[in-house]
Amino acid sequence: MASVADNLTMALRKQIGAKLNVLLLRFFDQNKSGEILSRVTNDLDKITETLQTGLLKLLVAIGTIVGSLAVMFYYDVLLTIIFLVFMAICIIITRMLAGKNLKYAAFRQETLGTLTGIVEEYYTGRNVIKAYNHEKESMEQVCANTELNRKATQKADFLTNSVNPLIRLITRLSQAVIAVIAGTSMLKGTMSVGVVQAFFQYVNQTAEPLTQASYMINTIQSALASAERTFELLDSEEEIADTKTPVVLNRAKGTISFEHVSFGYDSSKLLMKDISFTVKPGQKIAVVGSTGAGKTTLINLLMRFYEVNSGKILVDGISSVDMTRQGLRQNFGMVLQDTWLFGGTIAENIAYGKPDATREEIVAAAKAAKVDYFIRTMPQGYDTMLDNEGGNLSVGQRQLLTIARVFLCNPPILILDEATSSVDTRTEKEINKAMQELMNGRTSFVIAHRLSTIRDADIILFMENGNIIEQGNHQELLIGNCETGLQA
Ligand SMILES: Nc1ncnc2c1ncn2[C@@H]1O[C@H](COP(=O)(O)OP(=O)(O)O)[C@@H](O)[C@H]1O
Ligand SMILES: [Mg+2]
Repeated sequence: MASVADNLTMALRKQIGAKLNVLLLRFFDQNKSGEILSRVTNDLDKITETLQTGLLKLLVAIGTIVGSLAVMFYYDVLLTIIFLVFMAICIIITRMLAGKNLKYAAFRQETLGTLTGIVEEYYTGRNVIKAYNHEKESMEQVCANTELNRKATQKADFLTNSVNPLIRLITRLSQAVIAVIAGTSMLKGTMSVGVVQAFFQYVNQTAEPLTQASYMINTIQSALASAERTFELLDSEEEIADTKTPVVLNRAKGTISFEHVSFGYDSSKLLMKDISFTVKPGQKIAVVGSTGAGKTTLINLLMRFYEVNSGKILVDGISSVDMTRQGLRQNFGMVLQDTWLFGGTIAENIAYGKPDATREEIVAAAKAAKVDYFIRTMPQGYDTMLDNEGGNLSVGQRQLLTIARVFLCNPPILILDEATSSVDTRTEKEINKAMQELMNGRTSFVIAHRLSTIRDADIILFMENGNIIEQGNHQELLIGNCETGLQA
């Protein structure tokens, strides 16, 4: 039984793992990561735990009850019917309690999920919490949620554990009633001592499994409540599946066009309305606009992180929905404002997009990103392990590592979303030199605020409120739109 439960959990974990990869990004926008984590860990554990202990006992109990009842019928029908009446009462009570138990167990798991979410949030924001002297408030919030969880657990536990004495009381009552009736029949001489004795033994033998079964049915509600939460995750909306007959684009030339693209994060509210532009291979596109103008959104659509509401995005003339997501994304190299490094060596982190890269290639990429010198000052050089997502590096250093990562992949299309926003001006100048080289012959989308970037661009897309309000090169925009503030 233990292995059945373990295998079931493993199957569920695999399903969830696959599911997390195809969930809509909106799902992650809307749910706390700690909450999702709790469903994948706590809830699954609860299912395993309950099934391991409960299911076998339940099956044995039901078997014993059915067998004993058959023999009881053989000895005396009337007494068996009386016993069945009491059994029916037990079943009714069990069902009532089970319904309540399901509700309480679901609530307990929900509070546990919330608690995990809060702890995760506070853990990642610990510096801000300290900076604003919010330790006490955070602690209080954690305590309040722990208390909520305790109460919910207590209620659920009380209910589960009250099943045993309750059912036992009823089975004992049934024994008393049967004893009186059987005793009277015995005195009247209609029943032999042997039959009464045998019947009684069977009643006794049925009572305990009945209690057990009832208890187990109630315990299993915990697993059901958790299973429901797990399946809720498994039933969440998925990305549209990749097309069955994808066009393969091994290495794009780099023509990109947006054709009447409309998009909104919330389907009821459009952010972008009817965007169109075309860039030729090797062109450098500067995307400018104030914070919240929709620059990152444009990139999100280009990478197909979100689906457009209408219109088309074409890469080399092929609509991005006619390719697999993998096929599309392998043509892009992306450096973002938020860096993501994983627990591994620096070399492994640089080689993330090309795991079979040689050490020479990795070093060359690091040199190009101007991070080689810094890596050599680390205790183990390229083999230095990064703690907790690069927690032992500065933001700028982390950014340089992700830039090296793109250098190594050598993709035909580049996306730099405020990629150098966290490095100093001197390093930025150096990187820009390297970037210039990298951008040579590649279509590059650059979101940056430096004038130099904008001036060198072949096309400037000027965005506001999700829409492109001007496009052209620096000269054209300068002449046409002194009021846009671009010339500053
Ligand atoms: N994941 C998201 N879910 C909902 N709205 C979003 C999301 N990301 C961005 N937005 C909204 O879309 C608008 C454009 O954001 P963004 O493209 O990130 O701007 P920026 O030009 O600063 O990169 C903003 O108003 C922002 O609130
Ligand atoms: Mg942005």
